Amino acid sequence: MTITIALSKGRIYDETVPLLAAAGISVTEDIEKSRKLIFETNQSHVRVVLVRASDVPVYVQYGGADLGVAGLDSLIEHGAQGLYQPLDLKIARCRVSVAVRNGFDYALAVKQGARLRIATKYPEIARNFFATKGVHVDMVKLYGSMELAPLTGMADAIVDLVSTGNTLRANDLVEVEPIMEISSRLVVNQASLKLKQAPLRKIIDAFASAIPQD
Ligand code: PRP
Ligand code: MG
Repeated sequence: MTITIALSKGRIYDETVPLLAAAGISVTEDIEKSRKLIFETNQSHVRVVLVRASDVPVYVQYGGADLGVAGLDSLIEHGAQGLYQPLDLKIARCRVSVAVRNGFDYALAVKQGARLRIATKYPEIARNFFATKGVHVDMVKLYGSMELAPLTGMADAIVDLVSTGNTLRANDLVEVEPIMEISSRLVVNQASLKLKQAPLRKIIDAFASAIPQD
């Protein structure tokens, strides 16, 4: 019975490695040096597949993977239908915030009831946030490098992930309002949980025991 784990390259992968180790699982190849997408592990019945962060919930929902590690941002955008979410892994922590060009008076624009154009990869999170605030927005969906949108005059503000804040600073943007804290969650396919209960339980329990403490 093969167990397939969906992960995305970068911080989520790096910070999942110690959790996998707690479950006795290690990927034998250096994923950064490879163009492959499927990786064997030291356990013959466990394999890791690399997908885009926003696709992890999709692979787990449709059974392309039995379990995966997905950011709360990706889960909210996806809707998380049909996913069992047993654990907040408390890794890859960051926040979603509103940011604008240095010098743009965001507070005044909101106060005056201006209609704002928002560029984002996270339209679901952004729409909910501005609807709750009662701010009228037009959404421009982007797939990366959101920071460019206010700099080129394409948008008034962006809704994006902020971790160190370095990307905002490097592009003369300022964070004006935090929206939510983000961390990565373990997600499990519901049918897999029934069919492969014992091996999946073992992995879930091992991950739970290795969650970093605050
Ligand atoms: C992410 C995010 C921000 C940046 C935040 O972008 O969209 O741009 O990282 O990190 P920081 O606060 O530590 O600078 P990423 O590099 O993943 O690229 P993308 O948005 O083009 O996908
Ligand atoms: Mg970015």
